[in-house]
Amino acid sequence: MTGPLVLGIESSCDETGVGIVRGHELLANEVASSVEEHARFGGVVPEIASRAHLEAMLPTLERACATADVDLTEVDAIAVTAGPGLMGALVVGVAAAKALAFALDKPLYGVNHLAGHVAVDLLEHGPLPTPCVALLVSGGHTSLLLVDDIAGVAGRGIVELGSTIDDAAGEAYDKVARLLGLPYPGGPVVDRAAATGDPRAIAFPRGLTSGRDLERHRFDFSFSGLKSAVARWVETRERDGLDVPLPDVAASFQEAVCDVLTAKAIDACAATGAKHLLIGGGVAANGRLRSLLAERADAAGVTLRTPRPGLCTDNGAMIAVLGAEVVNAGGRPSGPELGADSSLP
Ligand code: KG4
Ligand code: ZN
Repeated sequence: MTGPLVLGIESSCDETGVGIVRGHELLANEVASSVEEHARFGGVVPEIASRAHLEAMLPTLERACATADVDLTEVDAIAVTAGPGLMGALVVGVAAAKALAFALDKPLYGVNHLAGHVAVDLLEHGPLPTPCVALLVSGGHTSLLLVDDIAGVAGRGIVELGSTIDDAAGEAYDKVARLLGLPYPGGPVVDRAAATGDPRAIAFPRGLTSGRDLERHRFDFSFSGLKSAVARWVETRERDGLDVPLPDVAASFQEAVCDVLTAKAIDACAATGAKHLLIGGGVAANGRLRSLLAERADAAGVTLRTPRPGLCTDNGAMIAVLGAEVVNAGGRPSGPELGADSSLP
């Protein structure tokens, strides 16, 4: 039993998460999702998310304490997602964390959601060898990061090497699912539909991977052209009275996304000399992304760190473990003035 006992609260999007860790040991990770309430709208409705967080926060907190067999008075610190995310959703978590910290007289740490997606890996694979490249792929973000000091207390912290110039990878999955008539969230359903399809059936474009685009955007991503290409392909088939082979479209789309994500991630390792590559965010749960990355990392002599799929999507444990890192590194607690910042970099 080493390391601080930290309670982490996550509420940046549609998942209310409360996690409890002791250092790198996971004690509880309770998540209440409002995803089904958003499904009929085809995407997250901020107002619905905020109300769902309000309703779910205390029951989720209670479940986490019961699972970890921890009394709130025992925790050493409280960490909360301060941003980025939906403003109305973030403020629910921040208000809850502040109230707890005040009532229990515990230090409070406002942390970055994206750094949390990276830090969650510590729960599975222990201390992070640095520098390490992290491929962060979620519904709102797609970035390649060079991680030097995850707590951001000493050293260079986390440097963004590149990011999407339009849609995030998860957003592309969600939009393509929608145009194929599949439900929200699209990632898991497209992943499943692709399982029986041929990834080479349709040659969809790979954005920013050649010529001047690649030169100017070596570590950036673009998925909106791919989404439009899928839409055009489907429209043409329908206009010509031909069937749309869903598994082949899904597999070919997925192959284009995963090909670009993995090629650029491996290239980032080569360019920075990083020998370790970590993936995080909801899309990191994708089966093809994980297998292709494993193949290419192996060929490049890079060690891959992939948290289990359940830890890749939004949760409270990732915030708790990041909080524990900050505590360990001697980071300063946030004061009572801590606010939510929807556009935290
Ligand atoms: O990290 P996350 O839970 O929330 C955000 O911070 O955005 O990521 C959610 C995104 C959604 O776009 C969802 O469609 C996608 O992750 N996703 C997947 C898979 N599971 C979730 N995308 C591809 N394949 C999956 N298996
Ligand atoms: Zn996320």
